[in-house]
Amino acid sequence: MNNRALTYDDILLIPRYSEIKSRSYIDLRTKLSRNYGLLTPYVASCMDTVCDSRMAMKMMELGGVGCIHRFMCVTSQCNEVNKVKKFMVDNHMEEQWKIHTEWHTNIPQIPIMVAIGVSEDDIVRAERLVECGANVLLIDVAHGHHKNVKLMLNKLFSILPTHVDIIAGNISTIQSAKDLCEWGADGLRVGIGGGSLCTTRVQTGHGIPNVTSIISCVKGERDGGTIPVMADGGIRNSGDIAKALAVGAECVMLGSLLAGTKESPGNIVERLDGSLYKRYRGSASLETKSTHNQSTKHIEGESTTIPFKGSVSYIVEKLNDGLKSALSYSGCRTINEFNKNSGWVEITNSGMLESKPHLL
Ligand code: XMP
Repeated sequence: MNNRALTYDDILLIPRYSEIKSRSYIDLRTKLSRNYGLLTPYVASCMDTVCDSRMAMKMMELGGVGCIHRFMCVTSQCNEVNKVKKFMVDNHMEEQWKIHTEWHTNIPQIPIMVAIGVSEDDIVRAERLVECGANVLLIDVAHGHHKNVKLMLNKLFSILPTHVDIIAGNISTIQSAKDLCEWGADGLRVGIGGGSLCTTRVQTGHGIPNVTSIISCVKGERDGGTIPVMADGGIRNSGDIAKALAVGAECVMLGSLLAGTKESPGNIVERLDGSLYKRYRGSASLETKSTHNQSTKHIEGESTTIPFKGSVSYIVEKLNDGLKSALSYSGCRTINEFNKNSGWVEITNSGMLESKPHLL
């Protein structure tokens, strides 16, 4: 049995013959879930220092989606959804999205995505969020290959309207992907312990490096791409996004890349030297758990302060540039082609060092 597992720095994509005349011909449309599409493959993570309504609105404008975090009471989370719904309508964006997501979208609506947990209260939460206009729910738990997720999916499918998609995770293995598909999930959130602030692997010794997680879950997805894989955790730049999509993910969830921006929740802190910062904290960190009056046992995350980055628009623009170049190097015009036709090699430590600027 081969127990070797790889992550982003362990591989490089193979440049291939290309006929792409200009990067402007490259199309970044993709799938978020069984029935919902995206114009760009980015999902803002459901962390309380990454995504509330403000980030979700900006991500919508940029063609992605923000998943509104669940560390607030149901009424507050519903208010966040209402703000996104109202903004959408105000800008006549729905029509544009319908046109642009075309073949990716069975349900021609812009995704409004929210996180929920797996407790009894979360069933009521889900119903209220859907009443307010949420149409993609994310069952946000650390270990998604779990009976609680199966029961939650069962319950939600029996009470929610059919236009609602449910993404579940986090998972990392072929069997978990097979099971979640069997339980009816409309999308798979993939990656355990690889996030920039995660201590799960340190605390529990469990997890699988991200590239192998994605490859395994794509294999386990039984319907040939009907149920998209969202790669989550450890993504630091457009090169990592390209690698995640090349090995089969349809979209990526971003935490640290979008944290510390104007649109992420939290105050900007100014230091004495004038430099600006924001907090970024793991959902299972002591700081997050204490803030939300949760039990402070089972801490599996860190928290930190990161430099303020300005608007998320600049970040997404740079990611788009890098990703379009990546598709061009692989001779692919669409993410769908890139999923199927790109190749990669495993590299050595020397290869990894050579891949980064090494003169300075
Ligand atoms: P990045 O690398 O984008 O990762 O910052 C974001 C993802 O990390 C996960 N996450 C956690 N995992 N303990 C964990 O083990 C935590 O406290 C924690 N907080 C977030 C989550 O999947 C997120 O999208």
